[in-house]
Amino acid sequence: MIYFKDGEFLTEDKLNVSVNDRGYVFGDGVYEVIKVYDGALYTAREHLERLLESAEKIRVSMSYTIDELLEIAQKLQADNQISVGHIYIQVTRGVAPRAHQFPEDSVPVMIGYAVENARPLEILQQGAAMKSVEDVRWLRCDIKSLNLLGNVMAKQEAFDHGCQEALFVRDGLVREGSSSNVFGMKDGILYTHPANNFILNGITRRVVLQIAENLAIPVKEEEFTLSQALQMDEFFYTSTNAEITPVVTIDQQPIGQGVPGPLTRKLQTAFEAQIP
Ligand code: PDD
Repeated sequence: MIYFKDGEFLTEDKLNVSVNDRGYVFGDGVYEVIKVYDGALYTAREHLERLLESAEKIRVSMSYTIDELLEIAQKLQADNQISVGHIYIQVTRGVAPRAHQFPEDSVPVMIGYAVENARPLEILQQGAAMKSVEDVRWLRCDIKSLNLLGNVMAKQEAFDHGCQEALFVRDGLVREGSSSNVFGMKDGILYTHPANNFILNGITRRVVLQIAENLAIPVKEEEFTLSQALQMDEFFYTSTNAEITPVVTIDQQPIGQGVPGPLTRKLQTAFEAQIP
């Protein structure tokens, strides 16, 4: 595999990451995942804009422009001959002896790679099971931070219960998945959490909102409770890799008829029509 690190494209044996990198020691950095379909990057510009925004929010100043980042991402896809897969890019605050405060002179470290990763066709077809989990993460979930312990623990709890995704609930309100955004459909209206500090404003979430607008499906970006979620006619989660995944149960209780719903299917079809 060909990696990118600090201006160079390298094979893994040449890749040198310091144990004093603050990403490794503190999770002090941000990242992005960009999907590749049929050899083409999907919504790459939006992801890279969000990468710069996340970096700015944690006060890491990046020396790359969007166009330079796009070029790097494209080269990672090409050099690794990725057909369907994703590109991973992360930026850390850099290397310095361990101390919590920002180092005075550290230089951000950016690495990237690209892997083949098939679309989850079976689960897109059959739907997934979710497990609700108390959202114990910090209050800046809008930042795509490398600190993912809360997400990791939640996903594992879901897996331990035979589910594919966790459903974060904070103050009784449904927020997002452990690595996805969530949507509910009730009486023809599509509900999703507003884009604020409690969730990551997913790129797939934005695509779905655009598709809903095109299809004249009414949308309410509003908070809703877990018991309201259980009463939804349809439910699904979205992410770069999960696309639009229908949810057939939450906490073992069927959503609607317990099968992927017609509006979810309609959105999936419209999504498929606009990927390369
Ligand atoms: N996760 N919310 C969280 C907490 C996420 O980690 C993600 C994505 C999303 C969906 O964002 P997008 O549609 O832009 O992928 C929402 C990525 C894919 C990951 O960590 O692998």
